[in-house]
Amino acid sequence: DMAVVARKGSAVVRVYREQKERRKAQKKHWELAGTKIGNILGVKKEEEEERGFGEDEQNYKESQRFAEHMKGVSEATSEFAKKRTMKQQRQYLPVFAVRQDLLQVIRENQVIIVVGETGSGKTTQLTQYLHEEGYTKYGMVGCTQPRRVAAMSVAKRVSDEMNVELGKEVGYSIRFEDCTSADTVIKYMTDGILLRESLREPDLDHYSAIIMDEAHERSLNTDVLFGLLRDVVGRRQDLKLIVTSATMDASKFSNFFGEVPTFNIPGRTFPVDLLFAKNSVEDYVDAAVKQTIQIHLTGNPGDILIFMPGQEDIEITCEVLAERLAEVDEAPELLVLPIYSQLPSDLQAKIFQKSPEGIRKCVVATNIAETSLTVDGIMYVVDSGYCKLKVYNPRIGMDALQIYPISQANSNQRSGRAGRTGPGTCYRLYTERQYKNELLTTTVPEIQRTNLANVVLLLKSLGVDDLLQFHFMDPPPQDNILNSMFQLWVLGALDNTGQLTDLGRQMVEFPLDPPLSKMLIVSAGLGCSADVLIIVSMLSVPSIFFRPKGREEDSDNIREKFQVPESDHLTLLHVYNQWRVNKYSSSWCTDHFIHAKAMRRVREVHAQLKEIMEQQKIPIVSCGTEWDIIRKCICSAYFHQAARLKGLGEYVNCRTGMPCHLHPTSALFGMGYTPDYVVYHELVMTAKEYMQNVTAVDGQWLAELGPMFYSVKESGAGRVQKRRQAQEHMSQMEEEMKLAQESIRMSHEEQ
Ligand code: CDP
Ligand code: MG
Repeated sequence: DMAVVARKGSAVVRVYREQKERRKAQKKHWELAGTKIGNILGVKKEEEEERGFGEDEQNYKESQRFAEHMKGVSEATSEFAKKRTMKQQRQYLPVFAVRQDLLQVIRENQVIIVVGETGSGKTTQLTQYLHEEGYTKYGMVGCTQPRRVAAMSVAKRVSDEMNVELGKEVGYSIRFEDCTSADTVIKYMTDGILLRESLREPDLDHYSAIIMDEAHERSLNTDVLFGLLRDVVGRRQDLKLIVTSATMDASKFSNFFGEVPTFNIPGRTFPVDLLFAKNSVEDYVDAAVKQTIQIHLTGNPGDILIFMPGQEDIEITCEVLAERLAEVDEAPELLVLPIYSQLPSDLQAKIFQKSPEGIRKCVVATNIAETSLTVDGIMYVVDSGYCKLKVYNPRIGMDALQIYPISQANSNQRSGRAGRTGPGTCYRLYTERQYKNELLTTTVPEIQRTNLANVVLLLKSLGVDDLLQFHFMDPPPQDNILNSMFQLWVLGALDNTGQLTDLGRQMVEFPLDPPLSKMLIVSAGLGCSADVLIIVSMLSVPSIFFRPKGREEDSDNIREKFQVPESDHLTLLHVYNQWRVNKYSSSWCTDHFIHAKAMRRVREVHAQLKEIMEQQKIPIVSCGTEWDIIRKCICSAYFHQAARLKGLGEYVNCRTGMPCHLHPTSALFGMGYTPDYVVYHELVMTAKEYMQNVTAVDGQWLAELGPMFYSVKESGAGRVQKRRQAQEHMSQMEEEMKLAQESIRMSHEEQ
């Protein structure tokens, strides 16, 4: 009989403890309002659970319903009219008025900052101006976006404006989806893509100009790019760099690149009436719906934009809006359009179309509509006051996407959306006092609040040995760097001195989170790489199962047939294998309540990862039905996320003791089989903490693969010796961390 116990006093725990006070202070703001909202959401989530919907099925179900709803919406404009108005639209944009001056400044300077109100034409026009001016003769014009949706949607818009096919002269590239060709001269991409390109091509030779768009968003990748590009422009005098921002932080950007000029695009904005809630709002969805209906029923013209924190709330808002309106006698029609990142792209495009004559449009959006995308014709903004942020959560030891109050800067951007075409009104669903006292002035940059493992790996492989020497605009807090380094050390990507190991070097090649790339690499040695490749690909898309209304039981039954009792990962593998046997057929998917579109996407991801494996000369072999090997491989990458059976169907995290639950959709749920130990892919926090994608593992494996966390309780010399060895490792690592800490402190003092 053996038991796996967590080691006490690890470096991670200590670092957390040290930083707790600072974190507490920082989070106080968010928690003030955050808890209340958490409750509201909790209630909603529970209701969903009762109906038996997992989060992902819910997503797909909703998307499908929207798809059906949209079918009825006719194209408002003919192809001809669209082309004509497009040219007129281009010339009406504020940036058009300063086109010549702007190009002049770009000619005379290598780096410039361009500041302009959202909707002034920065994203869609700058690339075209550079192209028209001949910059694309020497290389591509690249434009980075922090958001995938923006990259795709803007590329589509620009290809329309230039009247070319998307993917030819104008293309886009996002993770696992490259829509460019040899003809591409204007390339929109996520900032993460350009970051990865810099691995292969440190000087970015394919580009004649780079536009770093939406710099004010301060996304993690954009912040890292800042540091890298500062050096690239020093080495490549022929490269133009344009940094764009929606008004905020411009002088900071200018300073960072050495007092480079700032070009202001004069805006055309109209006054916006700001109306605050009189009392603190109980439920922002409810309040938003009420407010919207009230606006709609006044009969005054103008479209409405509602800001919600995320997809779930957007879907609920759309649903409730439709419901309540149906209850109103002879209510005029309202065209309700959602927009969020997981929405299929054909539906995303709908928000830009004119609504049919006489019908009001109401767009319900995440903060993607804050500055990334501009919808014309908005005269009313309804602002919930919340957004979703990825924040490192020390309780679960990883990043979590959670709802937080927005910052004052967000708030002001949101209200600004109402004054683009004429005077507007913004309804803020929070009190003026809350705005002043509870909202941060600006959002904390991502680099200061999330896990940096990927960034550390990338920078190390770019030869930035000392991360503390790297030129960050705002250096990440020391515990972020240290935790991320520790995590990479645990995975074996860094050695005791913080240097990249061979494994680490290989991990960088994959556009995946470190544990997933480790799993893929380890699988080759275990002889199951073909199988793990499939699992990793399946994990890279949202859930593939769907559960249509009215056929819940049928879909559950079929889903159960696929389930491999000891593992959700193996269940995914099983589904893919069955699909392959059935010649990747779409109708097979539909018959089995599986999303054909999602599966096609899995296949694309699979092809791309396979290509990288081949380049890396990693053998691709299948273990056939020896599935225990696969479970061990999963354990080798996810041992840090392990849970131990505590009571009936109840698990606790092996290291923190925090309770976590099997999700009702898990293959392990309610099968009468409850393994002593499991590892999980991620934790989803709704009403409870749910482990998602769970695999049963052998306790012995945890001790063997994660000796820094676990040891097997045994007696005698063996145990003492093992302990001592592990302690030696730990103190070496701690030594390195202390040094790192020391030098971060010093670099802070220098500033
Ligand atoms: O980047 P910035 O906010 O300065 O403006 P932009 O995104 O270039 O938008 C310029 C104009 O293009 C706006 O009037 C948008 O409504 C329009 N646009 C569009 O119709 N469809 C898109 N997919 C993107 C922009
Ligand atoms: Mg833009």
